[in-house]
Amino acid sequence: MKRLTRGTRLVVASHNKGKVWEINQLLKPYGLNAVSAGDLGLSEPEETEATFEGNAKLKAVAAASGSGLPSLADDSGLEVECLGGAPGIYSARWAGPAKDFGLAMQKVAEEITARRGWSAEPNAPGPRANFISVLCLAWPTGETQIFEGKVFGHLVWPARGGNGFGYDPMFVPDGDTRTYGEMEPPEKYAGSHRTRAFAAFKHDCLDHIEAAPRPTKIAGRDLPALTAAAASLSTREELAQFIMRLRADLHANRHAWNSATLDDYFAALQGYLGDMPDADDPKWRMMAKSLLAASMYER
Ligand code: IMP
Repeated sequence: MKRLTRGTRLVVASHNKGKVWEINQLLKPYGLNAVSAGDLGLSEPEETEATFEGNAKLKAVAAASGSGLPSLADDSGLEVECLGGAPGIYSARWAGPAKDFGLAMQKVAEEITARRGWSAEPNAPGPRANFISVLCLAWPTGETQIFEGKVFGHLVWPARGGNGFGYDPMFVPDGDTRTYGEMEPPEKYAGSHRTRAFAAFKHDCLDHIEAAPRPTKIAGRDLPALTAAAASLSTREELAQFIMRLRADLHANRHAWNSATLDDYFAALQGYLGDMPDADDPKWRMMAKSLLAASMYER
């Protein structure tokens, strides 16, 4: 198995700058740099494969051969057992061009009704489902490595909770009674499919590299939790809650913020927005990420 080393430039096969920024946070302690396929001017291939693994591979291989650098791609979605794994690789497409996940969840619920998948018993658990995340690391030689994470649970209808994104409000992970939409992001991310896929990638590809000590400036701050919270919010209300958390973090860890004054903070915010205009994220998530990034942005 090939291994990444300190100083490697890794292409994230996505044009979503938010995704690239998140992956960069994971890689930074190991001295690796992530650059997006978009920044290198590589075009995004169409996801024409029939599996998550196939689509992740297709994206990673295209970016690796186009750039001559190792590349990482991901593909994820929801699989419902009684729908034969649908929406599966079409999870994003079920939300239509407007990316309306209220509609996508409604469609899942209706398909389940049509297959008589909802139990008539009042307290019976809903149909079985799982989220899946597949990461593919591709090398310019054409070699690939796959890392997969799954979380199993059941669906509820009507959906519950306003946190998270996508199908979160209708999914209850095993061992809990709340939907992902009713959980705080750190609770969801503690055991989510994406966390598991990244843990497998980290175990095989990063853990042999000695991580640099965390900069003292961020000591005390729970940046992974704040980053996960920013990355998963979608609504104005969630942004307001996120700002409340950011303020609590400021009150508890003022010494660890990179911006000593309000002017420094705004300068960092301005710099971040200049570097990372993120057209793919919903606007409230984009704001949350910018506000968080400005608190730790190195100029
Ligand atoms: P992609 O891998 O970014 O293309 O995401 C595929 C789709 O899967 C998303 O648009 C969501 O609909 C769904 N999905 C993936 N992960 C999650 C999750 O953690 N919660 C809810 N929906 C998810």
